[in-house]
Amino acid sequence: MAKLDLQAVKAVVGDTPHMHLDQAERLTDFIAEKGIREVLELGFAHGVSTCYMAAALSHLGGGHILTIDREAARERSPNIEQLLEQLGERDRVTVSYEPSSYTWRLMKMLEEDPRPRFDFCYLDGAHTWAVDGFAFLLVDRLLKPGGWIIFDDLNWSHDRSPMLANSELLNEIPAEERSTPQVRKVYELLVKPHPAYHNFMEDHGWAYAQKREDATHGVREKEVVVERVVEVEKEYLGLGGLLMRIAKRLQRPGGRAAPAR
Ligand SMILES: C[S@@+](CC[C@H](N)C(=O)[O-])C[C@H]1O[C@@H](n2cnc3c(N)ncnc32)[C@H](O)[C@@H]1O
Repeated sequence: MAKLDLQAVKAVVGDTPHMHLDQAERLTDFIAEKGIREVLELGFAHGVSTCYMAAALSHLGGGHILTIDREAARERSPNIEQLLEQLGERDRVTVSYEPSSYTWRLMKMLEEDPRPRFDFCYLDGAHTWAVDGFAFLLVDRLLKPGGWIIFDDLNWSHDRSPMLANSELLNEIPAEERSTPQVRKVYELLVKPHPAYHNFMEDHGWAYAQKREDATHGVREKEVVVERVVEVEKEYLGLGGLLMRIAKRLQRPGGRAAPAR
């Protein structure tokens, strides 16, 4: 297959922040290589990254993006909808403007339909422990087994941000939190030790993680515990005693275990 013409997207987005061409190349190559179709993006700003991803999906022959930012993103110039219109990819993207945070929208999504449905999440939003630590746990519920997450700005911290330099906001953040790369904390403390994730990789300030194909949201762990309880009971009661106990349990509403003899 011929490679996607990134210059055609660049001609539309111009120098609009934030995603650079080299990042766009990495991201669109990744989408093609992994055969990604359903994308969740957290943090779109003007929609530059969204445009590159939409073009990549179009080039692959299909797919959809749900992207979430704050209400204020509507007022950006250019805004995401204008850029997507110019690119001819407006219909490929559902744009969600949230009053406070994508974590609220993710709660609604889980409430409406808790089934995992995304192949990929590009997380480029708050870059804080409080927001993105929680966002990861929510995204995990919506990511299909085998799906991927990329965390942007792994080493970013508030005090290294040129945009925040001299900002009043900076003084309100405790010094330790200002100087800590918080996305890295999420990656090191929540993502890498998570039993459902593997294939960790860091490259050009991005951190990658893949959800295992056999990840089951704890169902397998519950099965293992139940199997172990049955084994112990069998040892303790003998096969006949165990069968009697199971029969009693089945007769009881809620099926709770009988007290130990
Ligand atoms: C770096 S920009 C995204 C850039 C975009 N992905 C790109 O490369 O073109 C980060 C965006 O995250 C948004 N954001 C930060 N915290 C957020 C939150 N809690 N909920 C929703 N959006 C958030 C900001 O409004 C900002 O537009």
